[in-house]
This record gives sequence, C-alpha cells and structure tokens, in this order.
Amino acid sequence: MAARVFASALVTGASSGIGAALARALPATTRLLVTGRDRDRLAALAAGLDAAGHEVEALAADLATDAGRAAVITRAEARAIDLLVNNAGFGRFGPYLESDPRVEREMVEVNVTAVAALTRALLPGMIARARGGGTRAGLIVVASTVAFAPAPFFATYAATKAFDLHFSEALAVELADEPIDVLALCPGATRTEFQRRAGMGGGARPRGHTAEEVAARALAALGKKPVLVVGARNRLAAFAARLLPRAAMARLSGRVLWRRYRPGG
Ligand SMILES: NC(=O)c1ccc[n+]([C@@H]2O[C@H](COP(=O)([O-])OP(=O)(O)OC[C@H]3O[C@@H](n4cnc5c(N)ncnc54)[C@H](OP(=O)(O)O)[C@@H]3O)[C@@H](O)[C@H]2O)c1
Repeated sequence: MAARVFASALVTGASSGIGAALARALPATTRLLVTGRDRDRLAALAAGLDAAGHEVEALAADLATDAGRAAVITRAEARAIDLLVNNAGFGRFGPYLESDPRVEREMVEVNVTAVAALTRALLPGMIARARGGGTRAGLIVVASTVAFAPAPFFATYAATKAFDLHFSEALAVELADEPIDVLALCPGATRTEFQRRAGMGGGARPRGHTAEEVAARALAALGKKPVLVVGARNRLAAFAARLLPRAAMARLSGRVLWRRYRPGG
C-alpha cells in the first residue's frame, strides 16, 4: 500500500537531519510549514522545497520557549495542517553531574514540553477537519531506541524520549476510533548533526542509517503500526530491553554507551 498523502504538514526541526529529510520525502502536493531556529538553513530548505513544487512556509521559532511554541501553533492552525511531525529535539551525552542545568532544562522543554504542547493544541482541529472531510490525519513523534531503557550518561535525553514513546503509544490506543494515525518513530544511530551537538565521541559518527532512510521508512509505516524501530539490530535491542530486568538493562546500556560514545573516545 502506498504511503498516505497529506494536504498540509508541520515538520518541526526541519532545518537539518531527519526533519529536513522528512520534509523532502513528502509529496509535492503536501503544503509544508517547516520550523527550526536557524533562519538561513530554513530558507535554504524552503528554496529547495519550493523548486521541487511544494508550497512552503518557513518559520524560525525556539521550541524551548512558550513564545516559540505559541508562534508555531498559531501558524499550524492557520494552515489547517493534517500531519503533525514532532521531530525537533536534541541530547547531551556525558556524566550527569557535569551537565549544564540550563541545557538539561532546555532538553526537557524541546523534547517533552513542546511535543505535549503542540500535540494538545493541534490534534483537536486536525481530527475535526479529518472527520469533516472524510480523510485521516497523521501524528509522528520522533522518539529513539534509547526510549526503551534507562541510559546512564544519556539520563535526561533517554527519559525525554521515553516520554515521547509512551505518550505516542498511549495516544495510538486512546484515539484508535478517531480518524488519525499515530506513529512513534524510534531511530537508532542516524547520520545527522545529532551526535556532534550531543557531544558524543567519534565512535558515534560513521555508524547508522541515513536521515533519508529513516524518513522514508517512517512515512511508509504511518497508518500501519504505532511504533517503528528502524533497523533489525535496533529492533532486537528494543525487544531485549523489554525482557531484561531494568536495573540490569541500565547497567548494560551505560557500559555500552560509555565505551562507544565517551567524549574524545
Ligand atoms: N540522529 C540520531 O542518531 C537520532 C537517533 C534517535 C532519535 N533522534 C531524534 O531525531 C530528531 C531529529 O534529530 P536529528 O538526528 O535530525 O538531529 P539534528 O540534525 O541535530 O536536527 C535537530 C533539529 O531539531 C531542531 N531543534 C533543536 N533545538 C531546537 C529548539 N530549541 N527549537 C526549535 N528547534 C530545535 C534543530 O533546529 P535548529 O538547529 O535550527 O534550532 C534541528 O532542525 C530528534 O528528536 C532526535 O532526538 C536522532
């Protein structure tokens, strides 16, 4: 079955990585609202999308702030979106006691508060429009494979992604009779700017899927399943995390993460 076609989409965190790939992977018939903080990169993305035939609006907004979230919600409502992609997010790797409290807070604001605020504000209109038009809306929340278990040295990031995963899984069940498909997208290591921004060591970089692979698989999975873990090895790890005792899983994941990604490693 072909991927669903949406009339109007919001993709957050579209200025790079998975968000940019998701925006580019949507068909030209989908009108796009793309957001991020970096105006230049958003403008470059919008120019490319425009050349590919999209009607596109770029909006620079900081999702760590109430004002930024409100601006995105207002424009998304005005554009009557039927696909919401909560993709913007970031992590910070390293010992918790050495972390910057402001960054810790910003991570929760972007990865959790913005996801909750945008979803709560935009879903009622999306569902009402889908009901009225006899169509289906879509919600994609970008979680992560680290959402399945506690992750020492990635403590706050993994906890925010556990929120994204559980939130989406719960909505998928609660809204099963509504005209909306919900997908928690759980990529493993993906070659984007995430690793550099997270302060992860060099071992993080060569591995993983491309953002284009992740985007294509996500759009194909929407409407077919509530959770997509990208990649067979990642699916195995996520399955193991659900079987092993949590304390053992936390110790194991802390050892693996530190060995692979320690700063300077
Ligand atoms: N790459 C991986 O290995 C991986 C694995 C699992 C899950 N993920 C998740 O995938 C999503 C996309 O990340 P990525 O890999 O594509 O990384 P990326 O290339 O660093 O992109 C992150 C995006 O989030 C936006 N963003 C960050 N902070 C923001 C803020 N305060 N306000 C508004 N936008 C903000 C960035 O925009 P600006 O820079 O313009 O602000 C950028 O467009 C994230 O939720 C991440 O947690 C990534």
